[in-house]
Amino acid sequence: MDEIVIQGGRRLDGEVRISGAKNAALPMLAASLLTGGRFCYTNVPDLKDIESIRQLLCTIGAEISETPDGLTVDTTGLNDVEAPYELVRKMRASVLVLGPLLARLGRARVSLPGGCAIGARPINMHLEGFSRLGARITLEHGYVQAEAETLTGSEIFFDVPTVTGTENLMMAAVLAKGTTVLRNAAKEPEISALADMLNAMGARVSGAGTSTITIEGVDRLIPATVRVIPDRIEAGTYMVAAALTGGCIRVLDADARHMKALIAKLRKTGTDVDPGEHAITVTGRRPVASVDIKTLPYPGFPTDMQAQFMVLMCIANGLSMVSETIFENRFIHVLELQRMGADIQISGNHAMVRGTARLSGAPVMASDLRASACLVLAGLVAEGTTRISRVYHLDRGYETIEEKFRSLGADIERVRQNPKIAGGSGTKPVSGRTSPEN
Ligand code: EPZ
Repeated sequence: MDEIVIQGGRRLDGEVRISGAKNAALPMLAASLLTGGRFCYTNVPDLKDIESIRQLLCTIGAEISETPDGLTVDTTGLNDVEAPYELVRKMRASVLVLGPLLARLGRARVSLPGGCAIGARPINMHLEGFSRLGARITLEHGYVQAEAETLTGSEIFFDVPTVTGTENLMMAAVLAKGTTVLRNAAKEPEISALADMLNAMGARVSGAGTSTITIEGVDRLIPATVRVIPDRIEAGTYMVAAALTGGCIRVLDADARHMKALIAKLRKTGTDVDPGEHAITVTGRRPVASVDIKTLPYPGFPTDMQAQFMVLMCIANGLSMVSETIFENRFIHVLELQRMGADIQISGNHAMVRGTARLSGAPVMASDLRASACLVLAGLVAEGTTRISRVYHLDRGYETIEEKFRSLGADIERVRQNPKIAGGSGTKPVSGRTSPEN
């Protein structure tokens, strides 16, 4: 398995171009199942999760080919309605094929995703919503079986805003008879992006981006050509890197409108954030002021930025309270940060962070996607060497992260564990450079 090795303490300066958003691309690719034809996608990020959903779509019968600036997906002939366990366990967002398959073919069989490191993450709201539209849902042998001769529009009230639940039900409702109203819907930009795509396909979705989304069912849809919106979490990760290292980073192709909560918090730490026309320019200042954060559904502070922002609080000049309200187990990264010298006390869903002068590099282990990004940020600012294992988590959601950070001046490289190499530490550089160990 690969590791990432970082020599910390360098100021990061320069420009970084943000890739397409993983969490927009996944539902948009699933939406291609809603009707036959050739869909064209641009700005699709090159990530493990995208590879996983491509594999799933091909298993179902889609034909996918790469173009100079993206992908084409031809869903004319579907030959299956099943998302098997071996694919779903790698990526829980595979459940997003449930809605489109139910809408187009009247049946779908998807492995229950099970929990993950950050929480139980049930899909009960997805299934209750499908039932409200008239689908028969059965659970057997770890699979969800959904069937419906026709889907009939209905009113669906989510107990809490669910991002993929809102996306799944929007897709199921576009071909239903009559009108569907989703109440207490999630408001993320990725949901508005999916609604825009569905409307380009001939659907009639209104209210996306608000807590009430209305979908008037239509009889037929057509394929669309779409561009994936920029990844606000990737962008936020590089913005925190500028604040952490005291450098100046211009973040290109990001949309500051999607990051108002994060920008407000960064400014409160004393970081300078200038959302210009072509780039968001972020300049780290010293001292870093401690601020409290509480994760909330969009437009509140994003849970996917909680771990990254916590690293900044680890070197701030006081006490900060980090409250996680979305997932029940999203402090795994704290244990690794403590090994790097961070002073953090956890009590329930709150973490009290006491800023310290500096972190010290150490061997650490990634546990999930955003925790991995947090450890990279910690390594960049820590004194000495940080070696991060299980970096496959990173590859699910960050395109060429070490290249992007290296272009900003970081001393970072990916090394591959290779027991065959005699002597040395059994590793060899992947990035084409000679790592300090070899
Ligand atoms: C999406 O996950 C994102 N993933 C997550 O990003 C993100 O952290 C999350 O939204 C919250 O913003 C994708 O978009 C692919 P939810 P999702 O349904 O849809 C509970 C990343 O790192 N819930 O909005 O699975 C759930 O347990 C990932 O990119 C139910 O109880 O999250 C959680 O507490 C991590 N029943 C809360 O709702 C349900 O049926 C919000 O979850 C559905 C959700």
